[in-house]
Amino acid sequence: KDVAVIGIPINAGQPRQGVEKGPAKLIEFGLLNQLEEMGWKTHHTSNEELVVKLQPKHDPDVLNLKQPKWVSAVTKTISEQVRSSAIDGKFVLTLGGDHSLGLASVSGVFAAYPDACLIWVDAHSDINTPASSPSGNIHGCPIAFLTGIAEDHPDFRWVKPCLDAQRLVYIGLRDIDDGEKKIIKEKNIKAFSMHHVDKYGIGKVVDIALDHVNPDRNRPIHLSFDVDALDPSVAPSTGTPVRGGLTFREGHYICEALAETGLLVSADIVEVNPDLVDEMAAFQTIQVGCSLARCCLGESLL
Ligand code: ARG
Ligand code: MN
Ligand code: MN
Ligand code: MN
Repeated sequence: KDVAVIGIPINAGQPRQGVEKGPAKLIEFGLLNQLEEMGWKTHHTSNEELVVKLQPKHDPDVLNLKQPKWVSAVTKTISEQVRSSAIDGKFVLTLGGDHSLGLASVSGVFAAYPDACLIWVDAHSDINTPASSPSGNIHGCPIAFLTGIAEDHPDFRWVKPCLDAQRLVYIGLRDIDDGEKKIIKEKNIKAFSMHHVDKYGIGKVVDIALDHVNPDRNRPIHLSFDVDALDPSVAPSTGTPVRGGLTFREGHYICEALAETGLLVSADIVEVNPDLVDEMAAFQTIQVGCSLARCCLGESLL
């Protein structure tokens, strides 16, 4: 049981400072010791110097996207770390950092496991293309690049369209831009909004989600968990909170149920911003991030 814990302390995919401190705070809270106590051998890479070193002197908007060169350089470089850890047979746990890091984790995991599927737990669908993005923030765009539906962009030509839209499922959505709604409809992407969580309950939602992306339960699974999927009362310290999110248990249930399949090979815990709200809120958010990560690695399994 080996886990590669890969920090991706990036904030360039969105405008708020502080989210780059998420990975270090999760580690400081004791995540590595917690995983060791569960019987995992941990291999930690913080990438703190790397992310700073890769910041370009000049990084103007290109085709509407903000700080494209920095985001591209960081995610491209770290996707190699993810890929080689996965090929090594390690579970890959990436810690964010903003959700633009999905470009690194998903590219790396799918390079190692081309037949994998992706469960994206988020208030947002993060499928804006450069042209459709209302904000220009790249954390709202990773899925568009990974599925190959984004317009050609000079900084992201390295991203392979590794993700078939039918191997993707969303859970927790409640703040989707108009352009994104159109894409989700057109590409027929399976999406469970909070309305569906209310209607069916989280147990059923996870079952139907897996039936869609992984009908024979034989594909490796990558989970990308944006903590803003949780209700702001559960995870307040995050850059784009939206009311009406997953409860503490619903969020944990998703991680537990995926761990239980035995097919989960990797997970992201992203958008923890310890500088937002206040110290208590930050502590609560870090704590919940650690406990989601532990559940992904099988903590609650009997
Ligand atoms: N849809 C909005 C945008 O494109 C918000 C995205 C928020 N993404 C996130 N990973 N928190 O800017
Ligand atoms: Mn997100
Ligand atoms: Mn989000
Ligand atoms: Mn919005």
